[in-house]
Amino acid sequence: MIEFIEEIAFEAGRILSAHFRNIKSSDIKEKSKNEYVTMVDIKAEKLLRRRIQEKFPTHTIIGEEEGGIFNKHGFEWIIDPLDGTHNFMHGFPMFCVSIALAEDGIIKYGVIYDPIHEEMFKAEKGQGAFLNKKKISISKTNDLSRFFLATGYPFRAKPYLELYLEAFKNLFLKTAGMRRAGSAALDLCYTACGRFDAFWEMKLKIWDIAAGALIIEEAGGKVSGFGKNKNFMETGCIIGSNGIFHEELQNILETTFIEIDL
Ligand code: IPD
Ligand code: CA
Ligand code: CA
Repeated sequence: MIEFIEEIAFEAGRILSAHFRNIKSSDIKEKSKNEYVTMVDIKAEKLLRRRIQEKFPTHTIIGEEEGGIFNKHGFEWIIDPLDGTHNFMHGFPMFCVSIALAEDGIIKYGVIYDPIHEEMFKAEKGQGAFLNKKKISISKTNDLSRFFLATGYPFRAKPYLELYLEAFKNLFLKTAGMRRAGSAALDLCYTACGRFDAFWEMKLKIWDIAAGALIIEEAGGKVSGFGKNKNFMETGCIIGSNGIFHEELQNILETTFIEIDL
């Protein structure tokens, strides 16, 4: 199974790299305010759906561009054909293909492929996490004041902007640095392999996080939600970390978010 997922992630990644820095404005559409889709997102999702349907005709597919609902029943594929569309459109080389496969609501496989840096991150539940065949593990940073964090702005959740900024400030003052690279799936992978010590973001979608969350856990890290509802697969509000200061990070965020139904 994992080889098949890697194979299709690679094929979709080839579509992304073939069009990178070579996309016309007529190939870009604004889905809603500040949210874009390109013909490349659509083409890559079509390829993934076709490949999965040919091999597993009874499986369900949930994908960003054609939709679908996560029912936590049977085999469900959760795909983001291009995570980091905004970066892609601007020629900024941080984007990827993200594919997860769940069985009865549990994520069993996660594969994330960055075709520009040729990095294939993958995990199978209980089998560890890998980057291009090499086992990966989370960072060993054990001093919160040295933590190197990643985040994403809540551009889809503008009503939360003030709260986000308050939480950002609280974390910023207690840690060493914070990056916004523009691909939540890669932020999770970078945390899994120790480049970041932790990542947090609000109001993501299931296809942004399903594969990356498993990759962090299999790399020895911790993933959780924050706020009243801690189920990050439902709220899209997530912290992934090396585990060492996970509760502290969660507490810092919850000084802002505990009363909020995210
Ligand atoms: C986006 C990226 C980004 C995150 C957004 C996501 P997309 O995914 O993961 O880092 O901040 O919330 O929507 O739209 O490029 O697939
Ligand atoms: Ca995404
Ligand atoms: Ca996407």
